[in-house]
Amino acid sequence: MTTREECLARDARDPLAPLRDEFTLAEGEIYLDGNSLGPVSREVRRRVDQVIDEEWARGLVRSWNTAGWMDAPLRLGDRLAPLVGARAGEVLVADTLTFLLAKIIGGALELRPRRRVLLTDAANFHSDLYIAAGMARLVARGVEVRTIDRDALAAHLDEDVALVMLTHVDFRTGEMLDMAGITRAVHDAGALMLWDLAHSTGAVPVDLTGADVDFAAGCGYKYLNGGPGAPAFMYVAPRWQGVLANPLPGWLGHARPFDFEATYESAPGMRAYVTSSPSVLALGALEGALAVFERTSMAEVRTKSLALTDLFIELVDQALPGVVEVVTPRAHDRRASQVALRHPNGYGVVQALIERGVIGDFRAPDICRFGFTPLYLRYVDVYDAVAILVDVMASDAHRAPRFAVRRAVT
Ligand SMILES: Cc1ncc(COP(=O)(O)O)c(C=O)c1O
Repeated sequence: MTTREECLARDARDPLAPLRDEFTLAEGEIYLDGNSLGPVSREVRRRVDQVIDEEWARGLVRSWNTAGWMDAPLRLGDRLAPLVGARAGEVLVADTLTFLLAKIIGGALELRPRRRVLLTDAANFHSDLYIAAGMARLVARGVEVRTIDRDALAAHLDEDVALVMLTHVDFRTGEMLDMAGITRAVHDAGALMLWDLAHSTGAVPVDLTGADVDFAAGCGYKYLNGGPGAPAFMYVAPRWQGVLANPLPGWLGHARPFDFEATYESAPGMRAYVTSSPSVLALGALEGALAVFERTSMAEVRTKSLALTDLFIELVDQALPGVVEVVTPRAHDRRASQVALRHPNGYGVVQALIERGVIGDFRAPDICRFGFTPLYLRYVDVYDAVAILVDVMASDAHRAPRFAVRRAVT
């Protein structure tokens, strides 16, 4: 069994260790929820201050022209692109994830007009299911959203399928799907592929170009650390730019927004998917957050992420056999950067851990989620978190009556 001393020794040789200093982390707390909301970094504060003090306070309305505000959604897209295996001009940062999914779904269904099925995973994130159903209702010819068991996808890929939408990393279990293989099968069936990268971006290497993906979208507030409600991003393969229409057009996606024309004419490239004024402060925060990724590589992040999750699983297996169940796949190619433990009183377990300074979260009905973010987590944090979990279980702290009522956000 790995000892605490061995963990400290691994931290001492960790090439990512210096990046921890970039983040504000509370003394005595172990933050295992970067898969839900990443912490604030120094560069986020610096960039937001700069936007407020220089660009907004001093520049005022002139900053739309002089501070690059109009181009921020595209500039940030170019900066984020390498994290998902995309190139400059293929990514836009805007809106929030559900809205960007709506734009892609609405546009993509029109690219396969004779096909009337949108296939998705019955276990997909509920917002993805809601917006898929909503957009399908808006398509005049009537599109059916068919929710399936994703492991049986091949059996459902027929000539009626227009679009397949899947989430690359399952938000409950942390299982990672085979992006390249699934995309190939979807294309072989003549359908289009949309990936939700909410739990992938900044967590695992993603190669949208290599996997020949049509469309993708992800969020900025999880592993990217862009702040609560940070803008999201969308990817459109070059072959679909200028072809995929924005079903929610607005003035800033127009080719000439300041001509104030009554008829819409789409701007070229990714700008076509802009609808409204960019959220400049929020984009500033996300821009600052991306800086830390430029001091490492996703390959380096992945190596440490797997080492952290391997360690957590090893320690849990040894200390808590039969008490909690590791539901995240053990195979590296099917595991992302979170580990999910199943326990019938998972909510109580997570709350008791939070009271002891180990921050994870709970997803109904029985999943305790722990995100492992290599940019700021140490091996010794993993060791200490498991020691506290063992203590919680041994002392029955999770059964305390105050944990019987769930709060709004779990
Ligand atoms: C997999 C997945 N898809 C979509 C969303 C929705 O994101 P947003 O609130 O930005 O619309 C989330 C949010 O956590 C998510 O985890």
